[in-house]
Amino acid sequence: MEKKKPCVVLGVTGGIAAYKACEILRLLQKRDVDVYVTMTKNACHFVAPLTFETLSGHPVAVDTFERPQTWEVEHIALAKRADVFLIAPATANIIGKMASGIADDMLSTTVMAAKAPVLLAPAMNTGMWENAAVQHNLDVLKARGVHVVAPASGHLACGDSGAGKLENVEIIVERTIELLNKKRDMEGVRVLVTAGPTREAIDPVRYISNRSSGKMGYAIAESAAKRGAEVVLLSGPVAIPAPSGVEVVPFTTTQELMEQASMRALTQDILIQAAAPADYRVETVASQKIKKQDGAPMTLRLIENPDVAAALGSAKKPNQVFVGFAAETNDVIAHAEKKLERKNLDMIVANNVMRPGAGFDVDTNIVTLITGEHKEDLPLLSKKEVAERILDCALALRSKKMHLR
Ligand code: PMT
Repeated sequence: MEKKKPCVVLGVTGGIAAYKACEILRLLQKRDVDVYVTMTKNACHFVAPLTFETLSGHPVAVDTFERPQTWEVEHIALAKRADVFLIAPATANIIGKMASGIADDMLSTTVMAAKAPVLLAPAMNTGMWENAAVQHNLDVLKARGVHVVAPASGHLACGDSGAGKLENVEIIVERTIELLNKKRDMEGVRVLVTAGPTREAIDPVRYISNRSSGKMGYAIAESAAKRGAEVVLLSGPVAIPAPSGVEVVPFTTTQELMEQASMRALTQDILIQAAAPADYRVETVASQKIKKQDGAPMTLRLIENPDVAAALGSAKKPNQVFVGFAAETNDVIAHAEKKLERKNLDMIVANNVMRPGAGFDVDTNIVTLITGEHKEDLPLLSKKEVAERILDCALALRSKKMHLR
């Protein structure tokens, strides 16, 4: 059976650089990529859809209300087809729409529905590029995981000189190919991810827990699966949907997590522990609902739970890469570094959970990746993007270990 070619959906918006999208399309085809084009109506003033239709060999999607010619034009089908969604040139207008969640034409609705990595190659007048709104919108999109090839500086079609020129088409194509390849760079790698909180029972109706939503661990599991890894996700009780292509194994208590993780850890290549297991549990769980005691204080006696990461770390095999998180409120880096060593981890993700936009139950995070050799402070990013960066680093650690052997 013939192997299916990877697919790039190329969005073309209305700027003078639109003609360069033809060259991008040709270069992608030379790299054995199937390209589908969607254009804004303004882009059609610069290059006729027929040009892209002829070059790509596929109908060009412009208007959501047009009838399809030979295939299912509707935006969802096109969005699903994309392995990478490239918008080149990307005007200030499409950047603004994407940042604000506006979907009012074929291109903006399609990119909104797409699950594939999105790469923007902006091109515009220098004043527009430097405008605070445009830069803010780009920051918003980057925090959501959108990739950007910044424009080059030079002489612009409008007569001005400065930043805003569409980056060299070869560079744009190279970044697109990198994203296409990256997608499957974990093929054959076995990954165990832990996520979410634990619940330690007090009595049949009450428990001790924490604010973990599972979002961080789920994002890691989802990204690893998309990149081709074989993923098992050990999940505490959470209220978010399971990522597709991932085996989910539930746990409730830290002891259950210990059992499930120990059963599987030795057969994994990479272990990423984003769960927030309780350090303590109630020594004696009441068999019936505990009643109030006429105003007298109530004491719960807590005993220490096993440290799952430390136990697994002590049995780690030479080629395995173990990653932990450190959720801290003070002396973040120092505490994280101690955990890196004590739990025999290869990397720890230091998470200052006091910072707005970081830690529990939000869609973003601010972390520092710490290995034995280096520290990298990441800015405020979506948990999806943080997940990608953690996986990049874990893969690099793994290939280093494999080469050393
Ligand atoms: O789930 P979200 O709402 O998205 O929030 C994400 C998060 C804040 C939970 C996540 O980013 C995070 O920081 N997870 C680690 C939480 C935690 O328990 O940190 P810790 O510093 O107490 O533990 C250090 C490491 O040891 C962690 O990898 C933890 O999984 C592990 N651990 C902790 C206690 C224990 N008894 N056994 C363990 O294995």
